[in-house]
Amino acid sequence: MRSWDSMEHFEAFLDAGGLVEPHDAMPDPYRQAVFRFIELHANSEYMGGLTERDWIAKAPGLANKLTALAKTQDEIGHAHLLYMVAADMGVKTRDEMTDDLLAGRTTFHNVFHYRAHSWGDQIAIAYLVDAAALASQQAVFKNCSYGPYKRILRRIIAEEGFHMRNGEELLLKMAKGTPQQHEMMQTSLDRWWWPSVQLFGPDSAPDDVLLRWHIKSERNEVLRDRFVNKMVPQLLAAGFTIPDPDLRQDPETGRWTSGEIDWDALKAAISGRGPDSARRLRDARTARHGAAWVRSALDEAAAVPA
Ligand SMILES: [Fe+2]
Ligand SMILES: [Fe+2]
Repeated sequence: MRSWDSMEHFEAFLDAGGLVEPHDAMPDPYRQAVFRFIELHANSEYMGGLTERDWIAKAPGLANKLTALAKTQDEIGHAHLLYMVAADMGVKTRDEMTDDLLAGRTTFHNVFHYRAHSWGDQIAIAYLVDAAALASQQAVFKNCSYGPYKRILRRIIAEEGFHMRNGEELLLKMAKGTPQQHEMMQTSLDRWWWPSVQLFGPDSAPDDVLLRWHIKSERNEVLRDRFVNKMVPQLLAAGFTIPDPDLRQDPETGRWTSGEIDWDALKAAISGRGPDSARRLRDARTARHGAAWVRSALDEAAAVPA
């Protein structure tokens, strides 16, 4: 177990690339900030997994159903791993985190407060949301100072990479499809573009402790700008438009800049006032209730002496 006699020494340890482990005597503000960040990530994986689950039966054709099934397992698996890492920090138990999430006391990413209306929406989610989530996770992984989170992220990122590739493949299929498929895809991109851009959050505060303590390695605006500059050329090349009339390309650098971003929409979503927040939480409560027998059966099996 390591300990530090001052915040200055602790920060010097982080700046030198040190990894903090669960039994270390980490300063409490660091513990709280890292815990909140991992809890938000875990909640988002869980709520995202439930969206995927909704599409197992509805996805067109066996191959897409199998993909939806595999993605559901991946996302729920990510949530399990992250809840374990968070619980080990000793701030809240796993049950307390689940209770808080389902009662609306804690939050999850804005994109999971919207409804997926069509198969096109599912593709837009795989293409835009998985790519945005992957970009933020890669940026955390790069320089993450909390050992267990960094190790778990390696696996999560590998799986998210597959989700993103699957999204790209499906998007291209729709781009080359019938005029109706193209139109359906455009409608979905129009619906999911802004929530995906907003996922990165407003510009990072100059004194953001998550940056100072090497949890995030990039400022929000840098990640957002990189995302826009990756997605815009791909979407235009596939024959789609971007629902941003003020999107501009710098003639010299070729870089794209978004128009004004509606941060109120982000605030409303993450505070539980999004278009689909109430239904999603209700659905998550039903899922937890419906699986109670599985948890008690496993507890009983574990209690039987071998
Ligand atoms: Fe995930
Ligand atoms: Fe994913």
